[in-house]
Amino acid sequence: MITVTVPLGDRAYDVLVGPGARHHLAEVVPVAAERAAVVTQANVGVAVDPGIEHRVFLMPDGEEGKTLETVESLCRDFARFGLTRADVVVAVGGGVVTDTAGFAAAVYHRGVPVIHVSTTLLGQVDAAIGGKTGVNLPEGKNLVGAFWQPTAVLCDTEVLEALPPEEYRSGLGEMAKYHFLTGDELMDLPLEERVARCVEIKAQVVAGDEREGGRRALLNYGHTLAHALETAGRYGLRHGEAVGIGLVYAAELARLMGRIDGARVVEHRKVVAGYDLPTSLPEGVDTDELVALMRRDKKAMGGLTFVLDGPGGPEVVRGVPESLVREALESLR
Ligand code: GLY
Repeated sequence: MITVTVPLGDRAYDVLVGPGARHHLAEVVPVAAERAAVVTQANVGVAVDPGIEHRVFLMPDGEEGKTLETVESLCRDFARFGLTRADVVVAVGGGVVTDTAGFAAAVYHRGVPVIHVSTTLLGQVDAAIGGKTGVNLPEGKNLVGAFWQPTAVLCDTEVLEALPPEEYRSGLGEMAKYHFLTGDELMDLPLEERVARCVEIKAQVVAGDEREGGRRALLNYGHTLAHALETAGRYGLRHGEAVGIGLVYAAELARLMGRIDGARVVEHRKVVAGYDLPTSLPEGVDTDELVALMRRDKKAMGGLTFVLDGPGGPEVVRGVPESLVREALESLR
């Protein structure tokens, strides 16, 4: 078992990574807690034992369940169960569960402790780490939420073996992103060390900029186009696949802006392909729609905004000319 600490002062917490990490749950439950509300989805199928009185609450399967209605229903379940401020919520699942249950924990009794037992690769290297919680509105994803750091995170690499291949590949997009943020050859590491290294990279970024006033925005490398492709919704892409395309796109855009050379773009293509992710746009994408969606990206405060590679590594670049945004899209067809 590898332990990575997210160093946030008196709110610092440990992330346990390794096969069977879920069996350490009882050890990380706060001593004062008498009851645990375990939140999961029927299709997650991972049982946990918090070692105290507990009840399992199912939220709907899929991203559709990530709503304010679910948060209300969970909070009402917690109240009927008699969950107090000293007790604990345990979220067992991927990002949809940890985001939703994390948000319910952030607002129930104005905040109760939450532990994430992350069961997907994407969740283990990204969603469960760093305290971003929230739900979707019909108007957009993650529009309502709170920063609410967990008490502990358990990343059980054993449960990843049961993931459908496409769900596993979805996590690989985030790994490819970390490759470019640090230059680490993550693919050379065994799975447990690879997940732990990603957690460590994210922990360092979060510790330096918990509320995304600056450097945390770099975690969105490759995500501006990825979110547009996902929001357009017709292309059947998993998040990681969309991020793979978004990383190559960001490299092409950076080259057009004279920030990096062709060899660095080739490296982006090679690394993304090495993660078994797509490097070009799906058939028939609508350029006008993607540009409009990228303009609406919630990070885009004032014009088209991207995280772009450069001589000093990736950084946030605002006011990117639309002509180059379009030209880079054409180079990925
Ligand atoms: N997933 C990006 C972040 O946690 O900041």
